Amino acid sequence: MTTAADYSEKIPNNVSLHEDRRLQRALEAWQPNFLTWWDAMGPALPTQDVYLRTAINVGREGWAQFGFVPMRDYRWGIFLAERDPGRVVGFGEHKGDPVWDKVPGEYRAELQRLIVIQGDTEPASVEQQRNLGATAPSLYDLRNLFQVNVEEGRHLWAMVYLLHAYFGREGRDEADELLARSSGSLESPRILGAFNEQTSDWLSFYMFTYFTDRDGKFQLGTLKESSFDPLSRTAEFMLKEEAHHMMVGTTGIDRIVERTARVMVENDTDDVTGHGAIPVDMLQKYLNFHYSVSLDLFGGETSTNVANYYTAGLKGRWLEDRRRDDHKLTSDAIMVDALIEDAATGERSIGQTEVAAVTGLNTDLRREYIADCTGGVNRWNKILEGAGLPQRLRLPHVAFNRRVGAFAGIEATPDGEMLPANEWQRREGEWLPTDVDKTYVRSLMRPVHERGKIAAWIAPPRHGINGKPFDYDYVHLV
Ligand SMILES: [Fe+2]
Ligand SMILES: [Fe+2]
Repeated sequence: MTTAADYSEKIPNNVSLHEDRRLQRALEAWQPNFLTWWDAMGPALPTQDVYLRTAINVGREGWAQFGFVPMRDYRWGIFLAERDPGRVVGFGEHKGDPVWDKVPGEYRAELQRLIVIQGDTEPASVEQQRNLGATAPSLYDLRNLFQVNVEEGRHLWAMVYLLHAYFGREGRDEADELLARSSGSLESPRILGAFNEQTSDWLSFYMFTYFTDRDGKFQLGTLKESSFDPLSRTAEFMLKEEAHHMMVGTTGIDRIVERTARVMVENDTDDVTGHGAIPVDMLQKYLNFHYSVSLDLFGGETSTNVANYYTAGLKGRWLEDRRRDDHKLTSDAIMVDALIEDAATGERSIGQTEVAAVTGLNTDLRREYIADCTGGVNRWNKILEGAGLPQRLRLPHVAFNRRVGAFAGIEATPDGEMLPANEWQRREGEWLPTDVDKTYVRSLMRPVHERGKIAAWIAPPRHGINGKPFDYDYVHLV
């Protein structure tokens, strides 16, 4: 059975909010603060309305509707996926018990922390993307940017709902803090490093939605396994929206590669900068950057915190139910990336070491993520191959440009060769975007806000949104 959203309420929801007056009032009190934040930190480009998807329901008949909406009036609703009444804990020491409808006192602090960390990334990405509207390559792309923005806003709502509904006063304070921190701020930055980086151009935006939003997909995948059922159902619903964010990143890079390949072939040159396209080696540098900072989001190779989360049943593995083991991991081992020190010489090298599987869960999740990222690289290489070009993109080595985990203290090339720090600094510009590269990419970022037109550095999409053509008037500017 599904519960339809009540759009007569201030906050559309399928959690029977009207039955809990206290909770409803708390959320209604938070809502104006959210709107103040949205006005100050959300999309800066003024618009009349935008062709947006709005989540309205759960269940088989479809969960969203499309239509023109003034962005400020977007209905940020609270939706949980349908309850599975027979659901049991799938892993850890409580495996087989009924899942929890309330927060067990013993896990309160840990669950709150997990929700706050996830919640913090949602408004962060909106802040990072705030100024992109001014340089959108087409109305289609502009609409997709805004779609991602409003849905990250809804993901914030989703986490704030859990904080308000299940964590009392502390939860309400944390919900306020989610609006008080801000991306890149010196005094009060966002919690995770990658969410304090700037997304100042559209190449970065597509790399971000491919690599960094994909981290979100994997984190949500682990929360979907949670024994705390409201968190699980919330994450499951969020994953529906995340699929579109993945699509924006994947096809965004597809289209850039397609355009670059075409200009290369037509002009018989690798240096496409004279033709307003982005060279393959520059794409590789942006890829290297976004991939490596996203790898950091998975944390250290080993973590006793994460081991405890798993054993307690708070956070599972990616596709937990497809794993063929005991789902407790009490006697399993895993090889994790490590810096190996030679006992005799003291020399360090990049290698692996065996640890208890339960402490290596960050590595497990990072590897699932890396395998997923490979899919995009293969797609983009097929485009190059199809154009008859020898260039290929690739994922750099896991030790490249890392600031978190076993390789944080060393420097390595994209091939995984260790380098002294001064040597690495001297050659950094071969692998990461230089100021010259960034200036060039930014110079291409001129707005194309005319219906059916597109910038010269990117190919048009194959399909529009919701069956509409590419040249649809997806956004009405002021
Ligand atoms: Fe999100
Ligand atoms: Fe997302």
